[in-house]
Amino acid sequence: MIRIDAATATHQIDRRIYGQFAEHLGRCVYEGLWVGEDSPIAHHNGIRTDVIAALRHIKVPLVRWPGGCFADEYHWLKGVGDDRQPMVNTHWGGVVEPNTFGTHEYFELLNQLDAEAYINGNVGSGTVAEMHDWIEYMTLDSTAPMAELRKRHGREQPWKVEFFGVGNESWGCGGNMLPLHYANQYRQYQTYVRKYGAEPIAKIACGANSDDYEWTDVLMARAADHMDGLSLHYYTLPTGEWSVKGAATGFDDHAWHETLRQTRRMDELITRHSGIMDRYDPAKRVSLIVDEWGTWYDVEEGTNPGFLYQQNTQRDALVAAINLNIFHRHGDRVRMANIAQMVNVLQAMILTDGAAMVTTPTYHVFDLYTDHQDATFIPTARGALGADGELTVSGKDGAITLSAANTSLTTEIEAEFEFTEPVDEVLRAQLLAPAAPGDHNTFETPDAVALTDLTVSVDGRRVSFTLPPHAVATVRVRPRG
Ligand code: AHR
Repeated sequence: MIRIDAATATHQIDRRIYGQFAEHLGRCVYEGLWVGEDSPIAHHNGIRTDVIAALRHIKVPLVRWPGGCFADEYHWLKGVGDDRQPMVNTHWGGVVEPNTFGTHEYFELLNQLDAEAYINGNVGSGTVAEMHDWIEYMTLDSTAPMAELRKRHGREQPWKVEFFGVGNESWGCGGNMLPLHYANQYRQYQTYVRKYGAEPIAKIACGANSDDYEWTDVLMARAADHMDGLSLHYYTLPTGEWSVKGAATGFDDHAWHETLRQTRRMDELITRHSGIMDRYDPAKRVSLIVDEWGTWYDVEEGTNPGFLYQQNTQRDALVAAINLNIFHRHGDRVRMANIAQMVNVLQAMILTDGAAMVTTPTYHVFDLYTDHQDATFIPTARGALGADGELTVSGKDGAITLSAANTSLTTEIEAEFEFTEPVDEVLRAQLLAPAAPGDHNTFETPDAVALTDLTVSVDGRRVSFTLPPHAVATVRVRPRG
């Protein structure tokens, strides 16, 4: 019996933990989001309406753009105005990037999603002046040159940029820098991310690659005073090795358990990076921003290796649930996360094939978890649901949301909870429990993995339900009071 007492809530779960990431990579932006004004695919101002409707349903709070590695090759001026300048997308398949989707189209996307901006600037191959001009172009309300250029391109009012990343993976694809060199670069570049609007832009420094704790230490020691957030990237590889990742589908039981073991490393990484941050910033002013996370498998056979297109099974659903639970637990430091990526790339919410679209098991977990956004975190004992159980609990608007996952491939979990007050109403009870752990949605069978109703027993203050193997569920109740 797990006791739930809303009075023990510790911190707010920032809705930005449910952030998304859309890079100019493969078919994420082009086809996945943007089909253009002349497309026969249903769209509004060039952005496909089916994808927007699905993403609005899971309440996407913000979208990181334009990369990723692409960000440090992106020159924003080529992507505004009538005369777009193509470029080579060196990292991702060497294809020609037409720059049809640029700053104006990104803000149109945000407008349609009702989401905030998180733009990643170019430190690796861009200049300070270029970054400065982009900020001016987007956020300055005056007759200054860049603001005038924006107006000539059809946008009178400045946009709001809530978050700005200064470089991406500057230790790797973003310039191969050493930590002290990047700390200096960061200090310089961020100076020119000026505050022109009413609110300051939150500045995010490039953080560590998984367990590179030295990077975090140097950045916090040398630049913490100039940042609002420090990022962290960690991808779940089924084997833990880049050289032998394995397929997204058709995996065996061993791969299931190994993948979940690898994904649980996120907890240790956040704990240790946060511990270093605590030494320099005990008040936790600087957020840890996990702005790239998710599974990374071999690409689907017959697809461009540079496009990182992979299927998404119930294994990915469990990965999503485990990571979101970890972010909730660390919500006093982790205030944003961006799963990689929103459409057609890596652990995607949505897959498209021309005009066809399917949502993935990962999408359904984000759906199941929407009520945790901006809720208060209610701690429960680790392992409260047994060795195979994963649990996260939060409270919002007088209701309590329990999300439970079962990582076992064979055994059910009997989940029993006791609240401090009688439960008056079950507001939501849904389950994601396909027949097999490798089940996934295809364009032929788009609902093979879908939410179903969950049977819940309520007896006064007690609530119980059965969680099948390899399943994720959410129960939202209203206790009296
Ligand atoms: O998400 C794909 C790539 O992974 C990103 O471009 C890069 O930042 C990371 O290495």
